[in-house]
Amino acid sequence: MAGAGLSVYYILNNILNDYVDSSVKNKESEKKGTGILKKIKSSNPHLKDLSLNQYEKSLLNSLVTPEEISVTFEDVGGLQDIIDELREAVILPLTEPELFATHSDLIQSPKGVLFYGPPGCGKTMLAKAIAKESGAFFLSIRMSTIMDKWYGESNKITDAIFSLANKLQPCIIFIDEIDSFLRDRSSNDHEVSAMLKAEFMTLWDGLKSNGRIMVMGATNRKHDIDEAFLRRLPKTFAIGKPDATQRRSILSKILSGAKVDEEDFDMDLIVSNTRGCSGSDLRELCREAAILPVREYIRENYNYKSGKLNKDEKDDMPVRPLRTSDFLKTSQTTIQASTID
Ligand SMILES: Nc1ncnc2c1ncn2[C@@H]1O[C@H](COP(=O)(O)OP(=O)(O)OP(=O)(O)O)[C@@H](O)[C@H]1O
Ligand SMILES: [Mg+2]
Repeated sequence: MAGAGLSVYYILNNILNDYVDSSVKNKESEKKGTGILKKIKSSNPHLKDLSLNQYEKSLLNSLVTPEEISVTFEDVGGLQDIIDELREAVILPLTEPELFATHSDLIQSPKGVLFYGPPGCGKTMLAKAIAKESGAFFLSIRMSTIMDKWYGESNKITDAIFSLANKLQPCIIFIDEIDSFLRDRSSNDHEVSAMLKAEFMTLWDGLKSNGRIMVMGATNRKHDIDEAFLRRLPKTFAIGKPDATQRRSILSKILSGAKVDEEDFDMDLIVSNTRGCSGSDLRELCREAAILPVREYIRENYNYKSGKLNKDEKDDMPVRPLRTSDFLKTSQTTIQASTID
């Protein structure tokens, strides 16, 4: 009896705690959502009558407005061809849908765009830059946003994704790591997730073809995505590891704000030494290189006894500029880690 009593107590306790936890979380996210909604309304006069249901509100936490995005195409290095095509095929249809509706329904904007390629080469960055440049809202969806633990809620959230996008258009629904959501459907799929995928596809097909809502996905594993979904993502862009010219362009973008030694900075050498590096490896490389002069300065001028820095007030740039050797010292480790491709 006592054992049974105890187990009942623990089970009830767990359930209640979960319930209280989730309702507190829901309240918090709703409060945050209301704040975001106010902001959206004040900066977009045409949306001043916007009213959202509870599920749409809970999605506002995943919404990024163009003003909040700091990445532009200018920051993306070495992908100029892709950017040009994106402007034509993705951004113009979002901003000027009439232009594409002149002839017939034939040349509608793509309802889906997919970026695929190895990690760290700029897929997420490109998606953000598109939202920024097109002035569209950017609804960034994570698996955890959709997979609510309460049965039935997930469907409502999936519905809300599309209805919110519809209310806010132009809007980009961005699903990062899309393979984790739209993986090949298999017979051992969880019942809920199979249903969700079907629901998602139906909603996707139901998008009005005026081209102001777009589903955009990014993945490292294109082959894992279900055929049916791939068909709905007709525009695909392969974003591979950067070649020498691309690496040069990425490096110069990353280093545009840094001070480099005019006499001792050999871009060619750094470019040829970073074969196999992705954009994010290059960024890490530059970060490590930039720390070296600062560290050197600290070693020379820091008084470990008094804990103070011996600063020369007249000298406004005491830390020396970056030299080639700074990059070579660190690049070895970065290259070794990234040449497994
Ligand atoms: N082409 C590029 N130009 C400039 N910076 C880049 C480029 N590619 C990557 N980076 C740098 O690497 C970081 C990571 O890139 P991003 O998040 O876009 O990679 P990803 O392709 O989405 O990777 P993952 O597949 O792991 O999500 C960026 O924030 C940026 O600093
Ligand atoms: Mg990414």
